[in-house]
Amino acid sequence: MIRIYQTADYEAMSRRAAHIIAAEVYRNPACVLGLATGSTPVGAYKCLSEMVAKGDLSFKEVKSVNLDEYKGLAPTHDQSYRYFMEDNLFNHVDIDLANTNVPNGLAEDAEAECKRYDELVASLGYADLQLLGLGHNGHIGFNEPDDHFTKETHVVSLAQSTIDANARFFASADEVPRQALTMGVGCIMAARRVLLIASGEGKADALYAAFCGPITPECPASILQLHNDVVVVADKAALSKLTAAGVAVCE
Ligand code: GLP
Repeated sequence: MIRIYQTADYEAMSRRAAHIIAAEVYRNPACVLGLATGSTPVGAYKCLSEMVAKGDLSFKEVKSVNLDEYKGLAPTHDQSYRYFMEDNLFNHVDIDLANTNVPNGLAEDAEAECKRYDELVASLGYADLQLLGLGHNGHIGFNEPDDHFTKETHVVSLAQSTIDANARFFASADEVPRQALTMGVGCIMAARRVLLIASGEGKADALYAAFCGPITPECPASILQLHNDVVVVADKAALSKLTAAGVAVCE
């Protein structure tokens, strides 16, 4: 089932997403959270950090598995996804860093690292809640449009559109790593619940393709149509194409 919540703007989307994540932690304080990077979840992570600071929420027993990491970036590089997670969430909440997992972008044998990561996520029983952003080209994690879906964690060559989109975080497009390690759709689909968040007009086409288009590896997020517990929280602008097509949304 897919439930779509429409919010007025990015801030409201962030609060709603944070509440859904908090509800998961209240339900099971030792849950496994699948976490995402990118600009979209920053606001939700900030709300979660505030809840923890106020004493309303604790991540003490939470375990986390992140979707992806740039190949070749050290955890200390300010654009690595490990750094992002510490900067935006882990350093502001009471999570035990030993319980947080991000693929190792510096692994000498990237294939072995992918295998290790798949086994790790499986050993944790997969995510109870997997948070996802959405690429402009429909990617989830770094599962780029392709002629097939890849189930396992794998090394991926980034699409030029992804390199261009992420160049804003680097000094120049040349500095964006060309490859990444990403969870495949197997681990994502094995999550008990999926929470996809999107904001802004720039995501309207991808969101429409993901949930109203055919299920195709050309739009990796479209595979979520086959998941039985997906919640989408997106603002009006991101949902504009779906609502124009008459898709029902909750407020
Ligand atoms: C990045 C990440 C994705 C993210 C997406 C959208 O490259 N690998 O996990 O969802 O692109 O990013 P943003 O939220 O900045 O639009």
